[in-house]
Amino acid sequence: MTTLVIGGTGTTGSLLVPLLPDAVVGTRKPVRPGQVRFDWDVPATFDGAVDGVQSVYLIPPVGVVDPAPVVESFLSQARSVRRVVLLSSSAVPESATGMGALPALVRAMPEWAVLRPSWFMQNFTGDHPVAAGVRSGEIVTATGDGRVAFIDAADIAAVAARALTDPVPHNTDHLITGPEAIGYADAAAIITDLTGRAVRHRSVSTAEMAERMALAVPAEFAALLAGLDEDIRGGAEDRVTTTVEDVTGRPARSFRAFFQDHLSRS
Ligand SMILES: NC(=O)c1ccc[n+]([C@@H]2O[C@H](COP(=O)([O-])OP(=O)(O)OC[C@H]3O[C@@H](n4cnc5c(N)ncnc54)[C@H](OP(=O)(O)O)[C@@H]3O)[C@@H](O)[C@H]2O)c1
Repeated sequence: MTTLVIGGTGTTGSLLVPLLPDAVVGTRKPVRPGQVRFDWDVPATFDGAVDGVQSVYLIPPVGVVDPAPVVESFLSQARSVRRVVLLSSSAVPESATGMGALPALVRAMPEWAVLRPSWFMQNFTGDHPVAAGVRSGEIVTATGDGRVAFIDAADIAAVAARALTDPVPHNTDHLITGPEAIGYADAAAIITDLTGRAVRHRSVSTAEMAERMALAVPAEFAALLAGLDEDIRGGAEDRVTTTVEDVTGRPARSFRAFFQDHLSRS
């Protein structure tokens, strides 16, 4: 069964591809065998990318306020596709438009799963404002003392692989978290302990966070992201699930183990 992995060069997709027997990487710039051109901004690429494909790992268009119309158009063209696994988020509620409208589109497929991961541990290591904070010694958020059960993207990929290949389709939402809910200050303390370099967390107001983020992304998107920090401050992400172990048979990785592994590789 061939799977098109949209975002196959990205954080979760690149970890998913090696777990699949027959994956095709959807990318805007295919350079290797096993890659196919796929660009959400160029609908003419849809047909070629899903040709002969039975399942899709679907990462929605990045930074688009209402991705539902283009995702709906893509799914209507994907006639050979039976199964779709959507990467959504624990922080995105169902809604009539926007990111929250995507689960309903995917549930209309014959076989499906909606992945709702918590915040990625990889935000602390990659090309992300939190990672920049780790490097500078000060992580700035508007999350206060709110806690998040950060999840390793490798654990998301492991759940996605099962959702894509299990003979019986999951046909459910998977709320995916790491094994413990911790605050950004706790994460900073773990990093300090592991690296011997002081990293602290400074919490600012939601409005200040939106202003800071608007330096990097459009103001509307910055306000949305700062609002998610406010939700964390209010306790929205203070929860732990056993989904990774339930689906894959092994427990989710802790933040400490993740960061230790990251240090040993870098
Ligand atoms: N970070 C978090 O804490 C978090 C938490 C929960 C949910 N999420 C969700 O995770 C998703 C991102 O997943 P990820 O982190 O695995 O991906 P990612 O690392 O952000 O990578 C995105 C991929 O999308 C591809 N891409 C960019 N623009 C594209 C376009 N116009 N058409 C087709 N592909 C395009 C890029 O591939 P090419 O450059 O090769 O084209 C890239 O590999 C977002 O929807 C986010 O809401 C994130």
